[in-house]
Formats: sequence, structure tokens, C-alpha cells
Amino acid sequence: HSTKKEKMEQTFIMIKPDGVQRGLVGEIICRFEKKGFYLKGLKFITVDQSFAEKHYADLSAKPFFAGLVEYIISGPVVAMIWEGKGVVATGRTIIGATNPAASAPGTIRGDFAIDIGRNVIHGSDSVESARKEIALWFPEGPVNWQNSLHPWIYE
Ligand code: TYD
Repeated sequence: HSTKKEKMEQTFIMIKPDGVQRGLVGEIICRFEKKGFYLKGLKFITVDQSFAEKHYADLSAKPFFAGLVEYIISGPVVAMIWEGKGVVATGRTIIGATNPAASAPGTIRGDFAIDIGRNVIHGSDSVESARKEIALWFPEGPVNWQNSLHPWIYE
């Protein structure tokens, strides 16, 4: 049980301004929490253009980049660190495909979004980008705590 050292992974999840404005914060946190992942960081902030450009640096050559940055800075976002076994890939599964039109029902984007440019939520796409994104959004690092449900979630 709890003596077994699991290789825990962390991912960066952000509820985008549309998700906040539409009142989806509780619903989204609920899905990650009920799955069994642990909340290790949470902040409600508005970021500026240069910060958003840093977050999406890999997409700077894309035609939708300017619009994407404008959207992300348009209002407050909920930035989070979630931890658990396989949380990067499973987080992406919970979120659904980039284009909500292709996201399965039952996923966050499949249930709550229509347009690709208003797809409600961001989740790191690899362990390496999770590491970079957590360092950018949480330079102070994650909150250090241990959920007492641990032996009931991990064998
Ligand atoms: P991307 O990293 O490819 O997708 P994901 O968020 O699923 O990791 O793209 C980042 C965001 O850019 C995406 O969530 C929505 C926006 N975007 C567009 O507005 N138009 C597009 O054609 C694409 C591919 C993405």
C-alpha cells in the first residue's frame, strides 16, 4: 500500500478565460478530483501578453497565434498543477481532442465546447512540456502535501 513508492507525474492544467466566464471552474476541478488526482497548485490570475506568448512559444509561427494570445489574456484563468500516475496522458483524455468538434462526449471539450478557439481548457501534452509549463506558471513550485486517500487510490 502506502509504503510503495509510486512514480508520480505532474501536469499543468489551465481553465481558459471562456471556461471561467461560463462558470465551468467547479465542474472541471470536480472531474480531476473525482478521478483521484491530487491538486498540487492552484491560482486564479490574469496573465499579460508576453507571458501568454511564452506559454505558447512553440506555436508562435502558427496563423492562429495572435488570436490565441489575445484570447488567453482576455480575462482571468485558473492555473493548476495536478499529480498522479499517468496524469499527463490521462489529463489529455479527460480534456478531449484539441478541436471540440472531434472531442468525444464525456470529455470536457466534448461536453462544453464547440469552437477550437474557445476550447475551455489547456493541458500539457507531454511530461517535458508539463515540466516547462509548471516552471513558468509556478516558479515557487507545487504545494507539498499528501492526500490521506492515497492507499485507497494506489495499490
Ligand atoms: P495545441 O497545442 O495544438 O492544442 P492543445 O491545446 O489541445 O494542446 O494548440 C493550442 C491551442 O491553440 C488550442 O487549444 C486551441 C488553439 N488552436 C486554434 O485556435 N486553432 C488551431 O487551428 C489549433 C491547432 C489550435
